[in-house]
Amino acid sequence: MPFTTYSTHPYKDQRPGTSGLRKRVEVFRQGNYLKNFVQSVLDSQHDLIGGTLVLGGDGRFFNRDAIQVILKMASANGVGKVIVGQGGLLSTPAASCVIRKYGAAGGLVLSASHNPGGPDGDFGIKFNTANGGPAPERVTEDIFARSLEISNFRVSNGGEVDIDTLGSVDFDKLKIDVIDPVADYAELMQSIFDFDAIRDLLSSGFRMRFDAMHAITGPYAHYLFETLLGAPAGTVINGEPLEDFGGHHPDPNLVHAADLVALTRGAGGVDFAAASDGDGDRNMILGRDFFVTPSDSLAVLAANATLIPAHHGGIPGVARSMPTSQAVDRVAQALGIECFETPTGWKFFGNLLDAGRIAFCGEESFGTGSSHVREKDGLWAVLAWLNVLAARGQSVADIVTQHWQQYGRNYYSRHDYEGVKAKKANALIESLRAKLPGLPGSILEGVEVAYADDFSYTDPIDGSVSSGQGIRIGFVDGSRVVFRLSGTGTVGATLRVYLEAYEPDPSRQQIETQAALARLINAAESVADIRATIGRDTPSVIT
Ligand code: G1P
Ligand code: ZN
Repeated sequence: MPFTTYSTHPYKDQRPGTSGLRKRVEVFRQGNYLKNFVQSVLDSQHDLIGGTLVLGGDGRFFNRDAIQVILKMASANGVGKVIVGQGGLLSTPAASCVIRKYGAAGGLVLSASHNPGGPDGDFGIKFNTANGGPAPERVTEDIFARSLEISNFRVSNGGEVDIDTLGSVDFDKLKIDVIDPVADYAELMQSIFDFDAIRDLLSSGFRMRFDAMHAITGPYAHYLFETLLGAPAGTVINGEPLEDFGGHHPDPNLVHAADLVALTRGAGGVDFAAASDGDGDRNMILGRDFFVTPSDSLAVLAANATLIPAHHGGIPGVARSMPTSQAVDRVAQALGIECFETPTGWKFFGNLLDAGRIAFCGEESFGTGSSHVREKDGLWAVLAWLNVLAARGQSVADIVTQHWQQYGRNYYSRHDYEGVKAKKANALIESLRAKLPGLPGSILEGVEVAYADDFSYTDPIDGSVSSGQGIRIGFVDGSRVVFRLSGTGTVGATLRVYLEAYEPDPSRQQIETQAALARLINAAESVADIRATIGRDTPSVIT
């Protein structure tokens, strides 16, 4: 089949951020925007030529169009085989699973994660490497560099590929395998968790709901919970994937999953509820009348790891992103295992997972995962909680409350200021940077500052250094304030202020979170002058 080489112009805004390239759908539809990125990947990732590429996305608007373009480009550029999820679907963790299982050279994952979809929504694409994880910085820099010098791209002249029928098709010299997007992932889950114990729990009168938010996890959740684990039909809600996610933000948090939260309230509330995002990598965990912060979720799972069959011998270590609360650090200390603090973004866990130094990792932004894949994994976290609940026979609230009694509670909240002018947001960070040397030893709102720095991370495996990762101000009582700018927003800048207070005394562990953090909220304002610098009196979102 012949292909055509088209000349193109470089795009200067194709530097992949923490989660690849994420833009409005209209940007992706402009000119050769998508093709430029794909050609830059194919030009710079030499193992793909003659090798295997995994392809799939969260099913949002433009997913199917993008799949057709990528298949035609893969064919024209000499990729050996493309494994594509039926209908163009693969959750992000399932894509990671499939890349690893079939020894692919990499994958292209189509999603804008939790951002809204539809013609006016967002789209995204990212390249994952052969370990199944998001490309590390040196790879994304290569892709970006190539996108600046690229002068042409190649597209096959073949017709539309049928991606809805399972099986193999030859598309000129390219072999295309259309696979069931759920099967490999479900098999992996069954190799990790105690499905018999969870099945017993779910048939004992225990009531759960899983909210797929009309996004990719619907088919996965129906199969895992209702078919394999025998939960009653109706356990999975909003389980049908829609191109625009029904017009909602497919973001599992207290604001966007408020309907689910309501199902956990009061005497008739369900025992357990969980939700996942657009591409299936995030999770929110709820008990009856109880919200488990993602930071606590990581800590509790680490403390209970040996209840999960795949980890019954214990875990070698854990990692959390810098702004994530230090709750898991205390578990690691008690277990005598390693604990790493990495910059924001899942890709920083990759080397530690590959080297076997850690088994569990997580971020405060509703991301939890383990060594089974190289992405965070929403359904993994849900199954991990079900496994722990089944093994302990206690409620979510009792498990977390007992955890706090044993290790202390890390009160935690994130205050986001969205849509700020980039200049103002940068000015705030710059002025904080300038103040850092004078802070240690000073008193902020009555407590002494122990350290203050701009977080820099040296990867213990490859020695690469990532600096300028956020301002940390730590206090002698174990509390912290962290400031950083979002790397994933699509409109203006987002300032994130992360607040964490440590409370070892069980009699003071039941205070309302914002009240418990009041001192730190004042400290953040007094040191950063947030109101005056960015002209906002209150955060746009409090998590
Ligand atoms: C956000 C989260 C971060 C996560 C990323 C991708 O990035 O804070 O933890 O890895 O989304 O899901 P941010 O917008 O803060 O740069
Ligand atoms: Zn996501």
